[in-house]
Amino acid sequence: MTSVKNYIKIIVQCKTYNGGNMPYNITEDKIEEIKNLNDIVDVINELVPLKRAGANYNARCPFHKEQTPSFVVSPDKQIYHCFGCGENGDVINFIMKYKNYTFVETIEYLAKRAGIILEEKKTNNINNEKNKRLYEINRQAAIFYFNNLKNNDKALKYLEKRKIENKVIKKFGLGYAIKEWDKLLVYLKKKGYKEEEILQTGLIINNKKKNSYYDRFRNRVIFPIVDTKKRIIGFGGRVLDNTLPKYINSPDSFIFNKGRNLYGLNIAKNHIKNKRFILAEGYMDVIKLHNYGYDTAVASLGTALTDNQVKLMRRYTKKFYVAYDSDQAGLKASLKALNILKKNNLDANVVIMPDGCDPDEFLTNYGKIKFDELIKKSLDYFEFLDFYYSKLFDKDDKIQYINKFFDSINNINSIIERELVLEKLAMKVNVSKETVINEYNRIHKKYVKNKTNKVVKNLNSKPTNKIMRTYEDKIIEIILANADMVLLLKDFIDNKIFVKDEYNLIFKKLYDYKIENKEISVYNINELNNLKLNLEKVEEYKNLPNEDIMLLFKECKKKIKMKYYEEKRREYKEHLKKSSKEIEAKELMQKIIDLDKEMKKLKEEVY
Ligand code: GTP
Ligand code: MN
Repeated sequence: MTSVKNYIKIIVQCKTYNGGNMPYNITEDKIEEIKNLNDIVDVINELVPLKRAGANYNARCPFHKEQTPSFVVSPDKQIYHCFGCGENGDVINFIMKYKNYTFVETIEYLAKRAGIILEEKKTNNINNEKNKRLYEINRQAAIFYFNNLKNNDKALKYLEKRKIENKVIKKFGLGYAIKEWDKLLVYLKKKGYKEEEILQTGLIINNKKKNSYYDRFRNRVIFPIVDTKKRIIGFGGRVLDNTLPKYINSPDSFIFNKGRNLYGLNIAKNHIKNKRFILAEGYMDVIKLHNYGYDTAVASLGTALTDNQVKLMRRYTKKFYVAYDSDQAGLKASLKALNILKKNNLDANVVIMPDGCDPDEFLTNYGKIKFDELIKKSLDYFEFLDFYYSKLFDKDDKIQYINKFFDSINNINSIIERELVLEKLAMKVNVSKETVINEYNRIHKKYVKNKTNKVVKNLNSKPTNKIMRTYEDKIIEIILANADMVLLLKDFIDNKIFVKDEYNLIFKKLYDYKIENKEISVYNINELNNLKLNLEKVEEYKNLPNEDIMLLFKECKKKIKMKYYEEKRREYKEHLKKSSKEIEAKELMQKIIDLDKEMKKLKEEVY
């Protein structure tokens, strides 16, 4: 469950997200008040009908597909927990996850529901009014540019030459800035806006020497940039010929931050259901992709993709295609983008176009069917790295090739995915998986240690040998990172599934601690200190998304169960050897047959 401390962390994150402008004064007390007045059962019941089940309520989990209800809401603890997928938290976590809301949006929703008035920050009120004016100015400018385009043959011909259809011109509100010095300025002044205000949008430039102002965009096709709240935050402008600079953009301003917005996101986000974002490099690529029906195309705004942009998109889908120019610079940018996506635990494939084309050129030259084929052939993370570093491999510089992979793999957030990529790498270079993983860990550990030195020292952990760690130890590490997980081991504990009794005792103790609401840590459970636990992993697990933890957890459970079956089988066989009675022998053989069936079933289990 998220503690107040974690919310403070979230608030800090929100502050950064809003560029330092958290709209409300939210204190710890306020969060408590909001939680107290929003009973989790009522809040969830409004969205997912709940059924009473003893002291708790349950339903089919809204976060994963299931037939039987394993989603439980506890009115006493004011938490929810899904025993199927592991999703859990309090009322704030639920709304964030269920509605895909940010923390601030969630607080707004719950405050409104409980009739709590949030105190807006004063300074912000003034800024809000000022910013509203800036958005208005941009909207007026966009209308002005759009109307200019309709009356300008030269600009219309240019777009026609680039095979951009009218419907897309309208959809994106493309425009044209006239080839004169102050047409927009005069227009906006007539509408009642002052030069100082217009200057703040970046639409005009101050000529200090002459103490006068002139339009920034002249004789250019205009691309209005719209944020997800439908506000026009800036513009891009392209020349109609080969003069330089090819593009100019509005400068960053109070309302425009290039690193935190994406071109086309306002449209793409509405079409994203069950689709991937297509990340392109340029305005023209986005326009052309939409022209051909790829309505989830977006581009960063003339700069490399940023972590903030990825975090913004992650709210809508976890899957991406990277479709950058396929020249050397484009491939390098693709790798960078891919690494940022991987850091954020997202799934991305790279679309490779022939002859260094960009999506715009490719679609114009080869059409939609061919582009669909490229998408089908797009490369996943491993395949892209392999493609990108293939020269090293072909030159037989395998060590270099492997090292390049290792550097990239550090970016993958999910341990499971990291292991899968290492496994593929091992196959490719024809070295055993264990050797590759050991070598990666040797280099990578240094990297982790450097970063978490403090943690390691504090917890007084001894360097551990990875190979010696058992699956039981791994599960304990997961539980140390997320105590709730021990609840999922109830059947193992009740049936004493752990082959070593030592573990049966430890897990029973962990379970009892959880039930009694005592803290589970290496400090207050002595037995844990006798194990070879890797506390760096505990820290790592804390940052992993639930799905990854669940996968790892299930994998460990499977391995432990398998060990239990194997042990049982060995015992039966031993017995069988010694047995002299026919009936007993028959019984034992039947038991072994049944066990083999169970083992086969377990082996084939997928999750
Ligand atoms: P077209 O030549 O019209 O097809 O443009 P493009 O979209 O293919 O652009 P390109 O691949 O050359 O550049 C990608 C993006 O980088 C553009 O969409 C712009 O955002 C940005 N960009 C390109 N050239 C310039 C420039 O001269 N100045 C600035 N500030 N940005 C540029
Ligand atoms: Mn282009």
